[in-house]
Amino acid sequence: MRSVFVKTIGSFLAFFFMCLLSACVSMQPEFSSKDLERWTQDVLKGSFRDEKAVKVSILEQDASNAACSTSQATGVALSDQRKQEIEAENLKTVQAPKDGQYFGDYKLGEALAQDGRGLTWSDAAGQSNGGQCYNCHQLSATELSYGTLGPSLYQYGKVRGVTNLSSEVSQPVIQYTWAKLWNSKSFNACSAMPRYGHHRILNEGQIKHLMSLLLDPQSPVNR
Ligand code: HEC
Repeated sequence: MRSVFVKTIGSFLAFFFMCLLSACVSMQPEFSSKDLERWTQDVLKGSFRDEKAVKVSILEQDASNAACSTSQATGVALSDQRKQEIEAENLKTVQAPKDGQYFGDYKLGEALAQDGRGLTWSDAAGQSNGGQCYNCHQLSATELSYGTLGPSLYQYGKVRGVTNLSSEVSQPVIQYTWAKLWNSKSFNACSAMPRYGHHRILNEGQIKHLMSLLLDPQSPVNR
């Protein structure tokens, strides 16, 4: 009689603990991916401070960067419609040169393409930056050291038929190239190329020198 009683109590207790365990499992706090994203951002922001040219605000993504990061992180490709929206939004930010003049000096353009200085914590805020184009592109044939993340830009103007910078037929290439340098997302929603004008990495005058490097028939890129 006693052992039946002990057995009954025993099974009851076992059942009780099983229920408790399953209750604990189902009581796990629920975090949405938005919570996790917010906490990650808080930890990131809390780990840095403003230092000279580098500002913590750089961690804040605009809508197009956020869409591209999410797509890369989740492996879910952006729809063609979303890509077109991002490109249209970015194209709107492109500012044409104030004096209507798109060109500068290709020699200064080559120096900028070579120069990777700027925007680090040891650079003063507001100092002028290099373009670091060779980090990702081939440009002049004489420079042997270049990255290949971007396509080769050697003979960029020549292969596009630019023989005269003021001719009417060159205008579409000129407009496209200016927009690409000002805001690379204008023509490729998730471009890996820096948005030089849009993010004030380079100023209008510097972009003009790079335009000459890419398009002037006399530039080492096109000879
Ligand atoms: C971090 C790498 C990176 C850097 C730095 C970079 N680019 Fe690019 N660039 C790319 C990539 C990748 C592409 C091709 C994909 C795209 O269009 O976004 C590209 C495309 C281009 C194109 C369009 C080419 C075409 O055939 O339509 C031009 C022009 C260009 N870059 C010029 C420059 C110049 C000038 C600089 C320096 C001021 C520069 N890029 C710096 C990565 C880079």
